[in-house]
Amino acid sequence: MNLIFLGAPGAGKGTQAEKVCEKLSIPAVSTGNMIREALKNGTEMGLKAKSYMDAGQLVPDDVVIGIIKDRLAQPDCKNGFVLDGFPRTIPQAEALDAMGIVIDKVIDIEVRDDTIIQRMSGRRVCGSCGASYHVLYKKPAKEETCDKCGAPLTRRKDDDPEIVADRLRVYHEQTEPLKDYYAKTGKLRIVEGQEEVADTTALTFQALETGKAGN
Ligand code: AP5
Repeated sequence: MNLIFLGAPGAGKGTQAEKVCEKLSIPAVSTGNMIREALKNGTEMGLKAKSYMDAGQLVPDDVVIGIIKDRLAQPDCKNGFVLDGFPRTIPQAEALDAMGIVIDKVIDIEVRDDTIIQRMSGRRVCGSCGASYHVLYKKPAKEETCDKCGAPLTRRKDDDPEIVADRLRVYHEQTEPLKDYYAKTGKLRIVEGQEEVADTTALTFQALETGKAGN
């Protein structure tokens, strides 16, 4: 199954993508994680993306489209994938169509802005393997330490409340129009993401299986 997870920053796309990918044994393709990895490795693309990311702005379309094209051509995407954080603009969605990739469903996780600001302030990430936690909702077994690799947890620079406000502005201006874009294809499914993680997960699987959750 080829899936897109849409939603505002911090809506829980990454959290839900991980669960779906585990169940369906398909890779999660997160442009955010790929850009952070490139930055960690000091590549030219990573360094170019840094100023945009730190300011809560989108990285230019041509850069992200190039990354996705390469990634989706890898053999592990042959039997399906979840796109987490791509597309984020209409030109990115059009580029995906132009690649001839057929998307089965688009899951849009809906969360209010005030809930997002509160969630983001509690997110912690592993600087080494990228695993994501929350100080209240997804605590690591040992405080401030990654369960998966034991490295210290940190706060993402772009989770600063002022930057989150900018990311939300960018989302409403540039990414939200994708809901209409995919509604027209009949593939959009709205999932209510306001409640606990397990509730959203149940609704996400319902949307994948029946195609009717939240609609
Ligand atoms: P990216 O890394 O993609 O960030 P994002 O989309 O802004 O989304 P997040 O990863 O912040 O949130 P999420 O929805 O995955 O939520 P999560 O599950 O972690 O992008 C970062 C930057 O990269 C962008 O700003 C841009 O600069 C650049 N970029 C990336 N893709 C791009 C593209 N296509 N084009 C251009 N630029 C691009 O959840 C958040 C927190 O809440 C976690 O702590 C989690 O544990 C917790 N949580 C989740 N669900 C719940 C729940 N139901 N209840 C309570 N807590 C919850």
